[in-house]
Amino acid sequence: MKNNDIKPFKIRLVHKNDILILSEIFSKVFTEADIKKPWDKDNSYKHLMYWLKIQPDMFFGAFKDNKPIGAIAVNIKPWRTGMRCCAGIIFVDSQYKKQKIAKFLFKKILEKAVGKYKAMSFEAVTFAGKDFPLNWYERVGLVSDKNTVLIKGDCLDILKNLF
Ligand SMILES: CC(C)(COP(=O)(O)OP(=O)(O)OC[C@H]1O[C@@H](n2cnc3c(N)ncnc32)[C@H](O)[C@@H]1OP(=O)(O)O)[C@@H](O)C(=O)NCCC(=O)NCCS
Repeated sequence: MKNNDIKPFKIRLVHKNDILILSEIFSKVFTEADIKKPWDKDNSYKHLMYWLKIQPDMFFGAFKDNKPIGAIAVNIKPWRTGMRCCAGIIFVDSQYKKQKIAKFLFKKILEKAVGKYKAMSFEAVTFAGKDFPLNWYERVGLVSDKNTVLIKGDCLDILKNLF
């Protein structure tokens, strides 16, 4: 399936009026992915709007009969070794999973990152404690970074602890 026209879905840039449906899909699939950390629809909508605002040319959706069924967004930043493509989000509606949609979205955005921005490296954060999707990322050449640690905390606690 090399030609976009013969795939059962189309890939194009996401527009503002795609965000509502995409945010419903995002809320559902990320809540399913980690039930202890549910994403409600309102925060999902705001999160996708954030990605659309910071880099609208690097937010692609997959569409079936003009209806969004998945998406990928990245941002591009200058880095020590050149331009870096930093993954934001990738998700596919449950009923369309395992049809290579994520693979095509990933390919599309990497081709553009390299072609338009001369991106040299790629960075992403993914789920720990389960095999997939980390094992897929490893199959395509991503490795866990042994020199960095993801840290997070409560803003008010940090403020209290600072002085
Ligand atoms: C991760 C996700 C985007 C993959 O979408 P998808 O369209 O089903 O993936 P694809 O069909 O393109 O498959 C990509 C690869 O993963 C494998 N794969 C897909 N779903 C899998 C699963 N549930 N378990 C194990 N492997 C799986 C495929 O076999 C394929 O492997 P290959 O490249 O070696 O052939 C989708 O499962 C999703 O939306 N998950 C919830 C959100 C999420 O976890 N996002 C990523 C956060 S880092």
